[in-house]
Amino acid sequence: MNLYMFQMLVIFVGMATLEVVTPGKGGGKRSRTRGVKWWNLAHTQHFMSDSLLNPETPLFINPSLQPLTRKQRRLVTRNPGTSIAIAKAARMAVDECQRQFSTRRWNCPVYDASHGSSIFGKVVRKGIRECAFIYAIMSAALAHSIARSCAEGSIYTCTCGRHSRRLANSVQPRDWEWGGCSDNAEFGRKFSHDFIDVAEKGRDLKCLMNLHNSEAGRTQVSSEMSKECKCHGMSGSCTVKTCWMKLPMFGRVGKVVKDRFDGASQVEQGNGAINRSKNRFNLIPINTNHKPPEPKDLVYFERSPTFCTKDPSIGHTGTHGRPCNASSIGVEGCDLLCCGRGYRSELYTARERCNCIFHWCCKVTCDTCTKTKVRHICL
Ligand SMILES: *[C@@H]1O[C@H](CO)[C@@H](O)[C@H](O)[C@H]1NC(C)=O
Ligand SMILES: *[C@@H]1O[C@H](CO)[C@@H](O)[C@H](O)[C@H]1NC(C)=O
Repeated sequence: MNLYMFQMLVIFVGMATLEVVTPGKGGGKRSRTRGVKWWNLAHTQHFMSDSLLNPETPLFINPSLQPLTRKQRRLVTRNPGTSIAIAKAARMAVDECQRQFSTRRWNCPVYDASHGSSIFGKVVRKGIRECAFIYAIMSAALAHSIARSCAEGSIYTCTCGRHSRRLANSVQPRDWEWGGCSDNAEFGRKFSHDFIDVAEKGRDLKCLMNLHNSEAGRTQVSSEMSKECKCHGMSGSCTVKTCWMKLPMFGRVGKVVKDRFDGASQVEQGNGAINRSKNRFNLIPINTNHKPPEPKDLVYFERSPTFCTKDPSIGHTGTHGRPCNASSIGVEGCDLLCCGRGYRSELYTARERCNCIFHWCCKVTCDTCTKTKVRHICL
């Protein structure tokens, strides 16, 4: 069974499994989070990659597309190959979120699919910054994953990207030619837009916030594209140089989106009409001295809780038991992370590689040493 047939089968099973149509026009809490159920695919990634290595694995027994809405499934059906890219994106975004927030009070915890509305729990229902980050990183990951999959040839409806118009139209003389296969950022961005934004039907502030932050995330991906080149010619001479446009590493995207999180603007809804075609959501800063949010800025409208103690309203467990750095005055320091409750210190035995010797050529041998170390834990 080839990959194509196999994906069609997944889609078919996914469609046959169930379709819960939410009545009403997208105002309720249920429909609010229906469009983000695809995030749950982060949990199936493991399974999917094994299946990719062995296409005979009966992936179809996994109702992996069940979290998608009807419109999202239609989009996937029209673009065979995207289902795996979507699952990869979900995993990549969750990993990056946890990496970026590993030392923060809110450290991007995820729950299993049965836990409430989304894998991130109830924070996604709030208009807080953390939620802004989640929407941005999810949308960015989807654009990234799809753009890369196009270039790799694993999506049937797209191929290599067009070369950067900005560089192509540059008047400066170039000593290189376009060649190779550029990542298809344009397709990735469009797909991310179509796939994510169809699910945000409301016109309220929360919905506009989600749309804005999703757009900010995917815009960040396109704007971080860079040129990569390769030399051709006799023995390393560079008589011919070909270049293509390459996506940034996703960790780079995570870093810049995190910077936007730190500088996010608190907004409210303006009075003018919403013009979605221009992606202007008519959000104006609460502080009138601030300039209106730029396309890549993250926006929020509710202040975040402290995330210090257990808070069932957002499903967060607080920072009790988290490791902290006793000598740092930053966010990862025990003072801030433990919210002034203090910390306990404990000794533990760490095993490390040591006395490594390089043997010519090419082997490294090491011993295992045990060391007693100290760690600090929030009370
Ligand atoms: C939205 O903006 C576009 C581009 O400027 C314009 O053509 C369109 O008429 C606007 N739509 C509304 C409803 O204002
Ligand atoms: C703890 O913080 C200090 C000061 O910022 C830093 O030098 C040190 O590397 C940190 N320790 C760990 C384990 O991260």
